[in-house]
Amino acid sequence: MERLEKLFELSGPDMEKIVESFILEMERGLAGEKSSLKMIPTYVRMPTGKEKGKFIAIDLGGTTFRVLELTLKGDRKIGRTGIMKFVLEKKYVTGSAELFFDFIADNVNIFLRKYKLTDTSTLDLGFTFSFPIRQTGIASGTLICWTKDFNISGVTGNDVVKLMREAFRRRGIKNIDIAALVNDTVGTLAAKSYEEPDCDLGVIIGTGTNACYPEKSRGRMVINIEWGNFNKLASTPYDRQLDEESDNPGQQMLEKMVSGMYLGRIAGLVLKVEGFKTEHMSAIEGDMTDDLRVTGRLLGRLGIVKSSLKERRMFKKVCGIVSCRAARISASCIAAIIRRMDPHLSGTHTVAVDGSVFEKHPTFSQNMENALKEIFSRKASRIRLALTKDGSGKGAAIIAAVAGKYEK
Ligand code: BGC
Repeated sequence: MERLEKLFELSGPDMEKIVESFILEMERGLAGEKSSLKMIPTYVRMPTGKEKGKFIAIDLGGTTFRVLELTLKGDRKIGRTGIMKFVLEKKYVTGSAELFFDFIADNVNIFLRKYKLTDTSTLDLGFTFSFPIRQTGIASGTLICWTKDFNISGVTGNDVVKLMREAFRRRGIKNIDIAALVNDTVGTLAAKSYEEPDCDLGVIIGTGTNACYPEKSRGRMVINIEWGNFNKLASTPYDRQLDEESDNPGQQMLEKMVSGMYLGRIAGLVLKVEGFKTEHMSAIEGDMTDDLRVTGRLLGRLGIVKSSLKERRMFKKVCGIVSCRAARISASCIAAIIRRMDPHLSGTHTVAVDGSVFEKHPTFSQNMENALKEIFSRKASRIRLALTKDGSGKGAAIIAAVAGKYEK
């Protein structure tokens, strides 16, 4: 156990090293030099809070996708929202582009009928598409590569807005105009900063992980960092095995140490248990019973019957070691971005965070806050991590409003 703790440990100086190398990679990426951080310009400006009107959004980037309608009131307030969730079965995320986009369009039709929006005048739509996209404008961009085990043929290298518009046409949807293409981090940032002006960082720690921020040297245009691909972290033999067995070896190295898609797999490799998931880690780490009976029952379901208390304690410990490293990596990267924006930490910064790991894991957010305190000491109180639920969809609608205003 001690050996394992040492392997996964991230000390204060280790975090400081991550901060420095992350800033360097950010600078290289911005300068167009070789870097593991793509630093993608998004063409998105921060909202003012005065945007108004009724908008639609599609939020897509994991195993479920959502369609929503919302009203922006123009006074930093969001009015009534209508929302529908749809499950993306495996056949849709590993099949052809046409099958996939037609399925999305079919569900948009279901949504429009339910909310009586089929015969309206043109509605602007914000399209959240949470994969690495080379943006060519506010409402156009080509897919660089799939992540998170998506593998739909005929999309890489193509404009996803064009593919979505073609599916709308095939499915007879005429009153929707895709006004903005948005990453989920960008949507999350927009949603929180619509309500709170000191919010200047959007982070997702869910199935995948990533962050964005407004870059001063680019007139405060929001930059999608694609931090999941950061590759300057020390890895353990378990990380290397996971990477080798993955669909995209050598890529998304940070994502493979931090996000919900992989955390459970790492712990599973250490514990030699197949089918171990991040949800299991959350349940075990949140088990506060004195005999760890919740853990015992869960292990039973995973085929480990009659575990001893010592074994259950060991499971809990290993999960804690793996998730704590993930939280400290995330905090170090947030610290790097804040240091780049505000080197002396003289202002306050609200960080909009969404994603299942941040929201549901019992100690993740606390471990992140502790790490930020270690990095910034007392000044860490100027940084607030704010859960921003469903921000990615709401934010896409806000960005559609911002985009519409600029165009007019
Ligand atoms: C994608 C990002 C996305 C993140 C969170 C990553 O796999 O590359 O674009 O923001 O997941 O959903």
